[in-house]
Amino acid sequence: MVGAVSDQPCPASAPTLFTWEFATDPYPAYAWLREHAPVHRTTLPSGVEAWLVTRYADARQALADARLSKNPQRHSESAHARGKVGIPGEQRADLMTHLLNIDPPDHTRLRRLVSKAFTPRRVAAFAPRVRELTDDLIDAFADRGEADLIHEFAFPLPIYAICDLLGVPREDQDDFRDWAGTMIRHGGGPRGGVARAVKKIRAYLAELIHRKRAALGNDLMSDLIRAGDHGDHLTENEAAAMAFILLFAGFETTVNLIGNGLYALLRHPGQRARLQRSLEEAEEGDEELLATGVEELLRYDGPVEMATWRFATEPVTIGGQHIAEGEPVLVVLAAADRDPERFADPDVLDLARTDNQHLGYGHGIHYCLGAPLARLEAQTALATLLRRIPDLRLAVEPDDLRWRGGLIMRGLRTLPVTWGK
Ligand code: HEM
Repeated sequence: MVGAVSDQPCPASAPTLFTWEFATDPYPAYAWLREHAPVHRTTLPSGVEAWLVTRYADARQALADARLSKNPQRHSESAHARGKVGIPGEQRADLMTHLLNIDPPDHTRLRRLVSKAFTPRRVAAFAPRVRELTDDLIDAFADRGEADLIHEFAFPLPIYAICDLLGVPREDQDDFRDWAGTMIRHGGGPRGGVARAVKKIRAYLAELIHRKRAALGNDLMSDLIRAGDHGDHLTENEAAAMAFILLFAGFETTVNLIGNGLYALLRHPGQRARLQRSLEEAEEGDEELLATGVEELLRYDGPVEMATWRFATEPVTIGGQHIAEGEPVLVVLAAADRDPERFADPDVLDLARTDNQHLGYGHGIHYCLGAPLARLEAQTALATLLRRIPDLRLAVEPDDLRWRGGLIMRGLRTLPVTWGK
């Protein structure tokens, strides 16, 4: 079988995590953990100790467990260690009040507010603009016969899309592209550049909120302000934190879904040919295999390796393992989504898979708010690219590709392709 990653068999002994090989292909290590240590205590590269949950049933249960808090203040370690699990710098207190770092009742209130503004209807109405953005990006390299699909395609699309949706003026969007680039490049590494980018974003968002308040428009940021003005209260900090999480929860994730997804298709010619045939036959907007296919690409090699941090608020038992109060838990979505106890032939890419309740968008009250937008972007990107450049192929050997493996996110640094030569 040809794998997006090498699909090595389960190793005989305990794997070393967080190495270069692990970032390239974490699945053999996950198979070992699922089988031998499904709730496994490990030391993360930052020095923080955490539990990794790798079986599907345990993962699903943990994601919905109200005893696991999202609030980093619940972490039992020192304030020094706490600095390693959130945003660095003095912006923390400010931008930290976003959905992924809070529990009910605050989470319930803020999620209700944003759900009123970020509706599936708004996303559906945005489809023509996503198509236009996709076509513009392809126009820029279509005649060249070669491109790096990460930098020229997967990376800019989500940032322009979410900026447009939020109502960030076009002339300011390249600033976001730069800041987002800094955050991706230095994700788990040097913190200075990230802290500076976050500071600029914070200042920009304060000004944007101020401008929108003065002249509300037909955009998501204005709707958020409107929703906050009707009964429920949305502070300026909360509005900024909300815009921040929408910009950044929806950014690197979508870049990697498009990147990992295209790569998996390039490595599976049979599946890709089937998808291309179905795209030729299907009317636009009636592309069943594309819809199941994008879900399968998310299950098979999804961008979110591990869900974001959770902390036990009382002693809990997961998969028979005792976890003490204050200890961090990381639910490994990528491992759960390859669990043979849940998925038939989990290491096989099957774009037509329908029994596919994967955890790629999480589960429970923190289930991805942007899933409809992510689906729209990924489906539009893959369908448009494969229709316009049907003979796309990898320009390098798979072994020459480099993966960006952080703790939470995993994706390709570059994806060089050629065609028509
Ligand atoms: C939450 C995945 C795209 C906004 C989550 C979670 C996952 C996830 C796994 C839950 C994390 C946890 O429980 O710890 C993804 C993937 C995406 C994607 C795989 C793309 C392929 C987006 C987009 C947006 C977005 C485009 C918005 C523009 C959010 C927000 C949350 C979230 C706001 C927090 C929800 C809450 O805590 O209530 N996402 N996401 N995501 N996502 Fe996404």
